[in-house]
Amino acid sequence: MTRLAPFTLLLAVTAHLVHAETPAPSLRELAAPYFQMGAALEHAHLASPEGRAQDLEGLLGHQFATLTHENSMKWESLQPREGEFTFEQADALIAVAERNNPKLDVVGHTLVWHHQTPKWVFENADREKLLARMRTHIHTVVGRYRGRVKGWDVVNEALDGDGELRRKSPWVQIIGPDFIEHAFRFAHEADPDAELYYNDYGLEGDQKRAGALRIVKRLKDAGLRIDGVGLQGHYGTNLNTRAVEKSILDFYQAGVQAMFTELDISVLPRAWGNIGADISANFEKRAALDPYTNGLPAEVAQHQARVYGELFSIFVRHHEKISRVTFWGLQDGLSWLNHWPVRGRTDHPLLFDRNAQTKPAFHAVVEALKAKDSTP
Ligand code: GLA
Repeated sequence: MTRLAPFTLLLAVTAHLVHAETPAPSLRELAAPYFQMGAALEHAHLASPEGRAQDLEGLLGHQFATLTHENSMKWESLQPREGEFTFEQADALIAVAERNNPKLDVVGHTLVWHHQTPKWVFENADREKLLARMRTHIHTVVGRYRGRVKGWDVVNEALDGDGELRRKSPWVQIIGPDFIEHAFRFAHEADPDAELYYNDYGLEGDQKRAGALRIVKRLKDAGLRIDGVGLQGHYGTNLNTRAVEKSILDFYQAGVQAMFTELDISVLPRAWGNIGADISANFEKRAALDPYTNGLPAEVAQHQARVYGELFSIFVRHHEKISRVTFWGLQDGLSWLNHWPVRGRTDHPLLFDRNAQTKPAFHAVVEALKAKDSTP
């Protein structure tokens, strides 16, 4: 050992401590002049041993201003059998939001959807019966959280790809197109102060966006409240950011705020379409669809960071037209994309990696939020 060694060691230890104790910049604070930043999660993610070890609750509170329940406020979670309401999971997560300093705003997701809704809801139902069930559900749920939920995704995914109302939805088939107006009316009755949103994916496509704009117009013509349209934002690294920008402008012109409600940018090959169904049986196909099981290569991480940076530059440029940007998950290991559309893949779609550490994408978002003038 040389005589310098202890000093060098001390430096190394100090540097490590400084690094470990310097918290990452807060997205919540950086975005505050523009829009709210949010995350979606489950209470179980925070309460699991891994969630505790990674202090995910601390991460959530430091980085985000709003919280969306990933599943625990869906119909199947809240009223699995008629008249039996189960609020434990939803309550536990709301308690997390309320004990943070400052409190996180809670987003209610979602009241009326064709998925994750129990079968009984549609069984033996004519129009009147289904409207009555919808009314009871919305009044009970929205009424319970009155004043504690800032806004509700009242209706989720009502549109087919061509912009017509979803033909196979039991809501459309049993009630008819005005199920949307009824849902918004019931929600407003139950909490007149809550913001109300329509939420869908693929609204960057012209036809589907035209359908969403028709929904906004119908609600406004009927004198009903609608504050915003949620663009889910499940994107890939080939994202057409111009189409996103156009969508923001179109919704603003229609008199509603745009929100990005379920943002993630997958780095995996898109697996649907021409891929055979039984990929688990085909090792080669499987490996081709799941290339980053051992970590995200630097160049892919950089590419993803560039797309995130470009997207947030657009968000900053149009910030007065956008009220919120929510990520669908806290860290890569908890993302639904590890299970969909192919089970058991390793995706890396978020700003924090599987150890809850910041990725290049995080720093690209930070830079975009810091850049005062992002006009091209
Ligand atoms: C849709 C829904 C969300 C969630 C995601 C994937 O986008 O709106 O609630 O189910 O799919 O998990």
